[in-house]
Parts: sequence; C-alpha cells; structure tokens
Amino acid sequence: MPTDVPETESAPGTDYAFDTGAADAVPQLHALEAFLDPITTGRLAAPLLAPGVRCWEVGAGGGSVARAMAAAVGPTGRVLATDLDLTHLRPAGNLDVRRHDVRREPPPGDGFDVIHARLVLLHLPERRRVLRTLAGALAPGGWLVVEEFDCTAPLRVLTAPSDDAAKLFAQVTDAMLSILQSHGADLAWAQDVHAELAAAGLVDVDTVSHAQSWAGGSLGISLYGTNSRQLEPELLDAGLSPGQLDAFRRLLRDSGFAAMSYQFVSSRGRRRGPARP
Ligand SMILES: C[S@@+](CC[C@H](N)C(=O)[O-])C[C@H]1O[C@@H](n2cnc3c(N)ncnc32)[C@H](O)[C@@H]1O
Repeated sequence: MPTDVPETESAPGTDYAFDTGAADAVPQLHALEAFLDPITTGRLAAPLLAPGVRCWEVGAGGGSVARAMAAAVGPTGRVLATDLDLTHLRPAGNLDVRRHDVRREPPPGDGFDVIHARLVLLHLPERRRVLRTLAGALAPGGWLVVEEFDCTAPLRVLTAPSDDAAKLFAQVTDAMLSILQSHGADLAWAQDVHAELAAAGLVDVDTVSHAQSWAGGSLGISLYGTNSRQLEPELLDAGLSPGQLDAFRRLLRDSGFAAMSYQFVSSRGRRRGPARP
C-alpha cells in the first residue's frame, strides 16, 4: 500500500549491490535487455513515444532502452539517459547522457513527456520518495513507466537433473536475494508500484506482468550466473562454498534444467492534463 511516511536518508550498507562498470556487468545487462526489451518496447509504444517527445531514462544501464527511445522520438525529440555509472552509455544525436544519482540529486530537468525506470527503484531504500519526484518531473499529460521484478515468489524449478540440484538452485538464488535486501532492495516493491503511481496523483494507471520458463544454457538463465559472479564475495561470506557456486553455474548450463523467471511487472501512469500537441 502507498505510504506517506518519509523515508530516512541513505543508511550505510544500502548502496546498489552490483558494479555496473565491472566486466561481469556486460553479460548481465545484455541478458536483462534480451529478456525485457521486447516487453518494455511494447509498454512505451505510441502514444507514449512519438516524434518530438522528451524522455528521461533513469538508471539507463546498458542503454538499449534509451537508444530505442531516441530512435522513436526522432530528431525533433530528446532523450536524457542518466545513471550512477556511465561506462556503457554514449551520447549520440538526440540522446544525451549524464551522471546522476536519482536518490540524492534533484531531477536533471522537468517537463518530460515520458520517464522510464526499469529495475532501479527496487534497489533504492528511498524508492517511494524517488517515485514521487519522478512523477513531479512530468509534463502535463506525460507518462511515468516503472518496471520491476517481483522477487517474492520462490523461483519454481520445472526440470532438474536431481533433487539436490533443485535444492542448490533455491539455496543460491535465495542467498542472492538476501544480499540484495541487505543493500536496501525491497523484493515486494513491484506489487506496490501501481498503488504508488495512483497515490502520486497519476491517472490511467495500468499494470501488466510477465514470466516465462528459462532453460539451462539460455540467455535468460545466464542472469543468475552473472549475478552470482558479481555477488561472489558476499555469497562466500554467507556460507556458500566455491564448489557449490561452481555446481550452481554448471547447472545453469545444463539443458536438462529449467526454472521459471522472476515475474516482471510493468506499471505506468499519466499526469493529468493534455499532452503537448
Ligand atoms: C539492474 S540495472 C538495470 C539497467 C537498465 N535500467 C535495464 O533495465 O536494462 C540498475 C541500474 O540502475 C543504476 N543505478 C543504481 N542506483 C542508482 C542511482 N542511485 N541513481 C541512478 N542510477 C542508479 C545502476 O548503475 C544500473 O545501471
């Protein structure tokens, strides 16, 4: 449910868990983009993205959504892609890039027709305040699109070479979620976004969700492997052994293994008022 309680400022130990600039982040961002871009593109399609529209892509990561936005809005439109880490972002034509911390800095402008944030607010302890700030940076008639994984349901194993393999998958993926929580992530936030958009005064709020099976060896399931590499020191601190992590990564390449993905939840709402002609 939406809350009016102000969130406290950043506490130590609540920084973003992954290193976007690390070599392991490249396959991680590619896997996310391959799985999610087709869904996101559909959610951002006209009437949201159209020639001349001004967009802000928050926590742009590898930049695929920002580049798709820039192509859709054309030379009369403008896209600003921001992130804490600009390693994978390059300005080009109508696409501007700026280092920006959405937790701690005011918006890098206002009057945006489309603002999109995917898998960003989930990680931020101040997510509710940030969502209100994003809503406040919209032009009349502008859209805010917030997309997150709902990590509350256990990842259902569909086929596995053994019961022990299925248990190991659950053990490692649970440990990774605990680490994300310890960095300030809210695993259930995806379920709250719809109500938070409405509470921010937005109208025409709607939500869709998507999940699918991921087979061993697929790009989607490789996300767990790259996440496990990025979080390896903390997984070892949590009591997992190097042998267990190796076995987990072998399992992710095993064509006899399959599990359901996280539920991807896409919510959007519109600021009242007529959109710019
Ligand atoms: C899981 S990645 C998602 C990247 C991209 N949105 C996507 O879905 O492909 C999260 C992104 O949010 C960025 N990020 C994390 N904390 C941030 C903050 N406080 N301000 C701006 N960006 C942040 C990270 O650097 C990373 O690029």
